[in-house]
Amino acid sequence: MTVLVVATGNPGKLKEMQAHLAGLDWALALKPDALEIEETGATFAENAYLKASHVAKATGAWAIADDSGLEVDALDGAPGVYSARYGNTDADRIERLLNELGNELNREARFRCVVAIARPDGTIALEAEGVCPGRILHSPRGNGGFGYDPIFYVLAQRLTFAEMSGEQKRVLSHRGRAFQALLPQLKTLSAG
Ligand code: IMP
Repeated sequence: MTVLVVATGNPGKLKEMQAHLAGLDWALALKPDALEIEETGATFAENAYLKASHVAKATGAWAIADDSGLEVDALDGAPGVYSARYGNTDADRIERLLNELGNELNREARFRCVVAIARPDGTIALEAEGVCPGRILHSPRGNGGFGYDPIFYVLAQRLTFAEMSGEQKRVLSHRGRAFQALLPQLKTLSAG
């Protein structure tokens, strides 16, 4: 089995990636703790490339990274790549977003995720993108998930991400969709 280093310090992400990549010919490993990568890119794709490439070169192994965030139309796509840095806590970030939106009628938004896989020399071998459209509610609903989940409402399900089961969100979410797009490409790569 070829080792694929996950360019995240978050064990939750490792677990989620393991679920998506189960049954494939890759052994997933967490990146060394000391290896920190600054997300200096202007787009999700740039940040995903940056992280995958850096970790691949530093470890000499294949590496996978994702970058994601929330884009709100009435805020010209904010918080976007700054989603994690929009406030100090999830509650702060939600409060800031709701304040900035105020009573704006256009609440259209989407979560976007880009996943990238780098070869041991740092070059990018594969990438895929997943998008999940939704609306920003006026106040939080639900206790599950993390981040902006309680204010992100998915019309087709009539639920916020925070009201969905883990499995439901995994299938529907931007990350889930990015992995679904990546999987067929990854199978060709591991077979080749
Ligand atoms: P990153 O991809 O780990 O850099 O995440 C960026 C930020 O986007 C997170 O800290 C969250 O604030 C937000 N985010 C990304 N995915 C989700 C999600 O599925 N639900 C809620 N917030 C998310």
